[in-house]
Amino acid sequence: MRKKILAANWKMNFTDSEARAYLESFVSEIRDFNDDVDVVIIPPFTAIPVVIAASERVQTLRVGAQNMHWEKSGAFTGEISATMLRALYVRYVILGHSERRTLFGETDEIVNRKVKAALDAGLRPIFCLGESLHERDSNQVEEVLERQIRKGLAGVSGHDLTEVVVAYEPCWAIGTGRTATPAEAEEAHVFIRSILVAISDRTTADRVRIQYGGSVKPDNVEQLMRQKNIDGALIGSASLDPRSFAQIIHSTEDAIA
Ligand code: PGA
Repeated sequence: MRKKILAANWKMNFTDSEARAYLESFVSEIRDFNDDVDVVIIPPFTAIPVVIAASERVQTLRVGAQNMHWEKSGAFTGEISATMLRALYVRYVILGHSERRTLFGETDEIVNRKVKAALDAGLRPIFCLGESLHERDSNQVEEVLERQIRKGLAGVSGHDLTEVVVAYEPCWAIGTGRTATPAEAEEAHVFIRSILVAISDRTTADRVRIQYGGSVKPDNVEQLMRQKNIDGALIGSASLDPRSFAQIIHSTEDAIA
């Protein structure tokens, strides 16, 4: 049994005081939650300490970062390392998000270096992949996903692979209001798992959690979470409202009940 994992990707939103206000409301919403689902909040770097402080009050809450550099330290102005994140008790880090790939030129090779550096430092990568609309329309989905997995996770095996959370985020569904249907998402997840089997083995691949991301909302999350190979969600826009993120957690609990 894979434990579902819900992660709020705040992207470039919220100052530290806005984060504090959000958490006050969120913590009161989730007071009655148990530990059936892993919940991760992934704020901008500047709000990490505020979310860490909240996670000390709510034991089930975990904290992530949205990016990192693959080197431990050095002359890399503007960058931040896995060691620095670990020192703050950050547990997860999003790597290879489509916005990083398309707006900041991150290649599969760069993402792979980051994945390996994160694992070396004891961080769990949330490794994102997904096809563009053009790639879907021209029937290249499987080819693109296979390339992203083989290159992005090259050299990652065994226990390390089970620490990775894969996030399937079709680019045409991110921030567009257009979600993949549960069947479309499940089909992609089954394919992703088959490639994970190919690069490792059945037992290892069966332990890797695969999240869906792209316009997940309170009213569509339950059906998505009922799919056998959908092990959670990476949520952008709908996670910016504490009530809506709490509802997403509730609906996920309903789906697994
Ligand atoms: P969205 O973003 O929920 O706003 O589509 C998801 C993501 O980019 O991780």
